[in-house]
Amino acid sequence: MNNQTNEFKAKIAIVTGGSRGIGKKICQQFAEQGSNIIFNYTRHHKEAKETKDEILKYGVNCDVIKCNLNEEQQIIDFFKEINSKYKKVDYLINNAASGVQKLASELETKHWEWTLNINARAPWLCSIAASKLMKDGGSIVNISSLGSTKVVPYYFSVGTSKAALEAITKYLAVEFAEKKINVNAISAGLVETDALKSFPNKKSMISDSLNNPSGRSLTKADIANLVIFLCSKKSEMIKGQTIIIDGGYNLI
Ligand SMILES: NC(=O)c1ccc[n+]([C@@H]2O[C@H](COP(=O)([O-])OP(=O)(O)OC[C@H]3O[C@@H](n4cnc5c(N)ncnc54)[C@H](OP(=O)(O)O)[C@@H]3O)[C@@H](O)[C@H]2O)c1
Repeated sequence: MNNQTNEFKAKIAIVTGGSRGIGKKICQQFAEQGSNIIFNYTRHHKEAKETKDEILKYGVNCDVIKCNLNEEQQIIDFFKEINSKYKKVDYLINNAASGVQKLASELETKHWEWTLNINARAPWLCSIAASKLMKDGGSIVNISSLGSTKVVPYYFSVGTSKAALEAITKYLAVEFAEKKINVNAISAGLVETDALKSFPNKKSMISDSLNNPSGRSLTKADIANLVIFLCSKKSEMIKGQTIIIDGGYNLI
């Protein structure tokens, strides 16, 4: 419980897709600050259970709720359960994502719907539901990627969904400002997680990402640190922005 600040202590953070990868690191960093955690997942039960056990070691509450973000009714039920137990939340991190790695000419409408539903519709629906529980204001952080503005191989469906997510960020930032809810996005460079397994060009993606001025690869902790900052009072006047974190990769 080092670095614990009063600001995050006993607050409630929802992290979508908090069971693995970057989402897990975000859960751990909130827990380290003393926040209680609620996260969802959809397929990998064992990893979700392991993450919950790790979070509980920080001495905070941790609720794990199975919720497929592709299904609107499951999102409604997810927030009903949160409301019945907590009545109030402080932070929502729209982190979960999925996608189908195909060229635009090969993608089918069912792939488009799957990807856009999970990566853009769900963050919109979750943000609306969470905003109703942010009774003392709060923060929403949407996790985007460089493929929203840059053409990345096999990334058509995810890239377009992330562009929508960044636009959602701006609209919600304005709409929620009077409720003292801050909305921002993080556009991250490549981080090695399970998500890369489905890319046929995984190896070249990793070596290419190292070609950045910082001289090291981006980590899950780098992203989680920025999430914490964007949920802190220090970032109160940053609204509707997409902050790029990639060690300068996008500059060269
Ligand atoms: N990795 C990168 O290089 C990178 C770069 C830039 C941005 N990002 C963004 O960072 C975020 C996290 O990425 P990651 O690499 O950590 O991904 P990951 O390792 O694949 O983890 C994805 C998480 O989302 C959950 N999830 C996926 N589909 C879901 C659904 N339909 N309903 C509910 N939960 C679902 C997964 O749950 P299950 O375990 O149950 O499947 C898992 O917890 C994403 O928004 C991604 O686009 C990643």
